[in-house]
Amino acid sequence: MSSFKILISENVAEICVSKLLEKNFEVAYRSDISADELLDIIRDFHGLIVRSATKVTSEVIQAGTKLKVIGRAGVGIDNIDLDTATRKGIAVFNAASANTLSAAEHTFALMLALARDIPKAHISIHNGEWNRSAFKGVELFGKTLGIVGLGKIGREVATRAQAFKMQTLGCDPLIETGDFERLGVEECDLHELFRRSDFMTVHVPLIAETKHLITEEHFAIAKSSLRIINTARGGVIDESALFRALESGRIAAAALDVFEEEPPVNNPLLELENVVTTPHLAASTNEAQEKVAAEIAESVANFLLEKRTDNIINAQILDRNTA
Ligand code: 3PG
Repeated sequence: MSSFKILISENVAEICVSKLLEKNFEVAYRSDISADELLDIIRDFHGLIVRSATKVTSEVIQAGTKLKVIGRAGVGIDNIDLDTATRKGIAVFNAASANTLSAAEHTFALMLALARDIPKAHISIHNGEWNRSAFKGVELFGKTLGIVGLGKIGREVATRAQAFKMQTLGCDPLIETGDFERLGVEECDLHELFRRSDFMTVHVPLIAETKHLITEEHFAIAKSSLRIINTARGGVIDESALFRALESGRIAAAALDVFEEEPPVNNPLLELENVVTTPHLAASTNEAQEKVAAEIAESVANFLLEKRTDNIINAQILDRNTA
């Protein structure tokens, strides 16, 4: 048995546990753990593995006096206080591309659900109705899709949209013009994207620069037929502005996999007829969960046993440790 103890605080695929056990780590699999209990027991652990629900706050990190590594079995790290981790010399890893395809596919599941009103039609037939005229949808063919963020997921969404013969527009200040051309995506700023899109989808992380990136002023210039999808992070779209735009008919519909507060509590968006929702499921496929679990187990084990830092997020801790 290695002397390192790892706490897994969320539902991850079994392969994560078995890989760690194979390397003789002591593993506590506590997917039911409360925030208070986490704070209470974290002091015993050298590694912590989470998904998006565990809030790895500054307080948790400070309490983790033995903590050396935090592994995120997924991509988004907005639930981890990266500054505190870095200041404390704790390595942070994620599984940066293991759930890309699942996220892109879920975006399309939601896009098609919006286009064809599938959730409402499903409920209607389950209520004993056969109301074919109530659910006339729209085709994706020939429509314009605005993609906010052309990282790994945004690019996969673009490819799939092109297969549907949609016109793809994109906005991403970090991407060079040549890349837009290679992707077959027309480069636009956010305002133009809103003016021209029939469908829009968001694929940026939640950081200070993207918090409420999309707000009232954008909905004000959108087509009234706009259908918007968010499988990225709740805070990227200002939910109050989105609610007003949807309620007033300023835009047509939204599909949301993510919320500013998860699970959403008294969120008025959930009362609207023109909102389709899923509970943060974009990465919840067998394939993605196997990949993220295996990848993060490797990163955490390699760091603790061999000091390997491939794909580390906060490389600054290395400069400090070697200084
Ligand atoms: C991610 O950031 O990887 C996705 O939002 C999935 O989050 P999850 O691991 O909590 O499902």
